[in-house]
Amino acid sequence: MSWNKVLPEKDLPEGSRKVVKVGEQSVLLLRYENKLRAVTNKCPHLSLPLFKGNITEDNTIVCPWHHSAFDLDTGDVKAWSPWPPVVGKILACLTKEKALTVYPVKIEDDNIWVQL
Ligand code: FES
Repeated sequence: MSWNKVLPEKDLPEGSRKVVKVGEQSVLLLRYENKLRAVTNKCPHLSLPLFKGNITEDNTIVCPWHHSAFDLDTGDVKAWSPWPPVVGKILACLTKEKALTVYPVKIEDDNIWVQL
């Protein structure tokens, strides 16, 4: 693993998000509540983009597709495809529960760096 310079810090102000490419990986950068996080832009459920996922007060990102929820510090699953009712349970069975990939991220020299 190595650190990759992905973006000038000023291009990701508080309350914003951006998808960047690091090699073949699509990485979602999130800046909220004075936190900076980098996660894969693919939901582990069906690999759909997480970009529009809602961030809740308990540091969780909720997938916009079937509402799987993941801890933004650890990637741990908090909910696995609970939506839509009934159909969500069927969709949940299609894939094994899997954590969200969370990448180490830092600010250095006025740039954002992601390790992967
Ligand atoms: S693709 Fe994210 S919950 Fe289904």
